[in-house]
Amino acid sequence: MSDGMSITDADAHGLPLRMINVLRRTAKFPPDMAHAMNRASRGERGVFIHGPVGTGKTVALVAVAVRVRQRAAEMTAEWSAAVDAAEPRARLPKRPRTPRLRYFSDREFIAAAREAMHDGRSQRFAEGLTHPDVVLCLDDVGSGTGDPYTDFEVGLINDIVDRAYESTQALAMTSNLDLAGIARILGDRCSSRLVEACEVINLKGADRRVKGATT
Ligand SMILES: Nc1ncnc2c1ncn2[C@@H]1O[C@H](COP(=O)(O)OP(=O)(O)OP(=O)(O)O)[C@@H](O)[C@H]1O
Ligand SMILES: [Mg+2]
Repeated sequence: MSDGMSITDADAHGLPLRMINVLRRTAKFPPDMAHAMNRASRGERGVFIHGPVGTGKTVALVAVAVRVRQRAAEMTAEWSAAVDAAEPRARLPKRPRTPRLRYFSDREFIAAAREAMHDGRSQRFAEGLTHPDVVLCLDDVGSGTGDPYTDFEVGLINDIVDRAYESTQALAMTSNLDLAGIARILGDRCSSRLVEACEVINLKGADRRVKGATT
């Protein structure tokens, strides 16, 4: 994940185009952060990226999301090559379980959760997000759309963090809030498990959107 990721339109589908363009043009990540992002995209260990406005949290999250898609495509291509190369009567290799990306901004997450609740589909919605093959990318958790999370949403995020803690699900999450802020809105248990489940990356520095910012 160094200069200019090569991203196909299929890899970018449904992800924020502004961030995709930043990643295509130029996006540098410090080596430790790139390593944590790669591990998150492979489902090895979650990542929680927090920091002030404009420090690059969403760009990093979108990079993780793109890597998840690329990895799924690579796994399918490898399987397909192995099938093609197999001897006529040989047992064919099993199709791999590829990771499935679910990407939400906080606003999208809340809207989807409330729509599901309204339609009486909240259990299915929760099951869809907590499936072991799902890699969940949640941007801007607790950004506060003016509305606090409902009990269902708090419960669901806690459940997702629990699964990441138990290593049964991959998670990448960003927030303007630090761990104390997460504890305030989602509970002490959630922030404590987040620390265990995820590499915590604290982005510092100036707002990159402000012209002249050096970091
Ligand atoms: N790794 C990077 N390399 C180069 N430029 C970057 C990188 N990350 C972010 N930027 C620049 O900084 C801008 C802000 O990044 P981003 O939107 O990811 O910040 P954020 O931390 O998510 O902000 P907010 O808290 O408002 O959501 C981007 O539009 C891009 O121009
Ligand atoms: Mg952001």
